[in-house]
Amino acid sequence: MKIGILTSGGDCPGLNAVIRGAVLKGVISHDAEFVGFRWGWRGVVERDIMPITRHDVRGLSKQGGTILGSSRTNPFEGEQGGPENIRRMLDEEGIDAIVAIGGEGTLTAARRLWDEGGIPVIGVPKTIDNDLAATDYSFGFDTAVEIATEAIDRLRTTAESHNRAIVLEVMGRHVGWIALHSGMAGGAHAILIPEQPMGIDEICEYVESVRDRGRAPLIVVAEGFKLDTMEEAHSHLGLDAFNRPRLGGIAEKLAPLIEERTGIESRHTVLGHIQRGGAPSAYDRVLATRLGMAAVDAAFDRAWGSMVTLRGTDIARVSIADATGGLNVVPQSRYDEARILFG
Ligand code: F6P
Repeated sequence: MKIGILTSGGDCPGLNAVIRGAVLKGVISHDAEFVGFRWGWRGVVERDIMPITRHDVRGLSKQGGTILGSSRTNPFEGEQGGPENIRRMLDEEGIDAIVAIGGEGTLTAARRLWDEGGIPVIGVPKTIDNDLAATDYSFGFDTAVEIATEAIDRLRTTAESHNRAIVLEVMGRHVGWIALHSGMAGGAHAILIPEQPMGIDEICEYVESVRDRGRAPLIVVAEGFKLDTMEEAHSHLGLDAFNRPRLGGIAEKLAPLIEERTGIESRHTVLGHIQRGGAPSAYDRVLATRLGMAAVDAAFDRAWGSMVTLRGTDIARVSIADATGGLNVVPQSRYDEARILFG
């Protein structure tokens, strides 16, 4: 069997470990052959294809980014897009299956290609935000939490030196998992997430109670958080390739509000793409490797339209439809648990 792999959407630490896991398992257990589509779905529609041998994946699991490159191309768009063209390309190139590593947009496209065009696709979930349903965790999330936690630790020492309040903004478009976990790990005094709008008065109460104990307040906010007076998440950077608002900037908005209302000198930091770059954590390398291996097994079982997933500590398979049907939001109980520690 000849398998084509692609990485699509925003990148994520662990993508290369998936590629390595898939290639090693395929070569060792199934005598499979591999190619990579460059730049996500763009490589599929434009036939930008490169061979991937066992030699090419040597030492790859610790490398950040993706050797294949990524983009947010939609495979249904353009003259060469759509299931019929893709089917012709696969036949002519002798490719029997596509392993698509991506988030919600990538997996939705993969699912449509299988449902509407019978394109043999297996999905692998990828997102630092951990917002995909049907998997307990996705690789990249653990690394992002580590990076955000280190940032909190560092910010707390400088905040204490100056007796300032600091607002740290982390990624999390629809869900607040990175904020919740890094905030708990770093002992943040409030954690603000998209699922839980909050008023500025409550935020300032937490800040003042920290100040009254002689400490420097540290607030973690996910980019998708809304004050209870806001209709939409804060965005001043235009739209991305999917016409979604580019988020970012809520921390910059909150810090002066906190300073104005509490009189505490306040600063903000936006962590941004630092959370997506660099080497994956050991946990993410293991998870990504296992998912890559399982994706190849799924291809040999011809389980088209399925996605490999983490259930507890086991790797399982679900329909891609289950994964793209909803979001993995932070449950109320997890937020209530964290909220006890605010202030
Ligand atoms: O997909 C995860 C994510 O990191 C979001 O949290 C964030 O809004 C988005 O990607 C940013 O993507 P881009 O790389 O296009 O700026």
